[in-house]
Amino acid sequence: MATALVTGVAGFIGSSIARALLAEGATVRGLDNFSTGSPANIEAIQSQIDFRQADILDRDALASACHGVDLVFHEAAIPSVPKSVEDPIGTHGPNLNGTLYVLEAARHAGVKRLLYAASSAAYGDDPILPKTEAMLPGPISPYAVQKLAGEQYLASYARVFGLETVSLRYFNIFGPRQDPSSQYSGVLARFISQMLAGQTPTIFGDGSTSRDFTYIDNVVSANLLAARAPAAHVSGKVFNVATGRRITLLQAYDEIKRITGYTGTLNLAPEREGDIKHSVADISLAQQAFQYQVVADLAFGLERTIAWCKEAKS
Ligand code: UD1
Repeated sequence: MATALVTGVAGFIGSSIARALLAEGATVRGLDNFSTGSPANIEAIQSQIDFRQADILDRDALASACHGVDLVFHEAAIPSVPKSVEDPIGTHGPNLNGTLYVLEAARHAGVKRLLYAASSAAYGDDPILPKTEAMLPGPISPYAVQKLAGEQYLASYARVFGLETVSLRYFNIFGPRQDPSSQYSGVLARFISQMLAGQTPTIFGDGSTSRDFTYIDNVVSANLLAARAPAAHVSGKVFNVATGRRITLLQAYDEIKRITGYTGTLNLAPEREGDIKHSVADISLAQQAFQYQVVADLAFGLERTIAWCKEAKS
């Protein structure tokens, strides 16, 4: 059975991948500095994983963490568009240098395959929908530039060094353990926590902004499938990971309102700098290359996430 390293293991995506790997019988090592992740996310699995509290820019820690590892799931990042607009240099370090350092550590340690949390932010504001991987990228925010440059490093490492690499472009992932508390948190996590607390959520824009909101189970499944797929199908390549369905912020708000029973109102505020207007994926490439399927839709995901938030609050 494989030995896997999950960077950003205390984040909501990393901790979900780690749980799925453990369920498959893999040996799991995890790295996190708790900058955006939290100890609570790995509390229940900490005794089953080899956890190392270290920064993604700590090259010695990375070399040691990659030793004896077959697979790396590189999820560590500062995953926020507005944060990158506010602090381009501070986010460049973890998001791009960190990715390069992980690639270097992986190739020197003889890791077989590295999977990377890429972002649909790479597509930018191209009005053509749905987004296909063949489209020319057009990153808007520093975050999008950092994530896109990381993909290109992965493709280079596949070609130049023979390290198998796969970039998975995540589209607006949500689910249990996502942090709702920061101004930079994902919109669904924020709305859910605000409405459960009886606070008024704010939509930036007129509510027609849309996203391909993707429940975490789909991302976990995509990672496990891409980790097992033949190298000829996936290595050095980029794949969308999403549902293929577009939901507006207003529709998402209405759905959360229905499930939570929120009776309050809604604020509207100006659009955020660096935001893209619409985003929805074509997921056929991942379906063809590694049999990716949507395993959980938005309604199911919202029910599960809201149930989890209620339990976490009680
Ligand atoms: C998100 C991810 C990013 C990922 C990208 C992929 C987060 C925090 N960011 O960026 O890592 O690479 O998807 O597409 O998960 N909004 C509100 N009210 C709020 C908060 C946000 O209306 O309280 C709006 C934003 O202005 C934006 C939309 O909701 O128009 C989505 O914002 P957000 O959840 O931060 O995600 P993205 O910026 O799309």
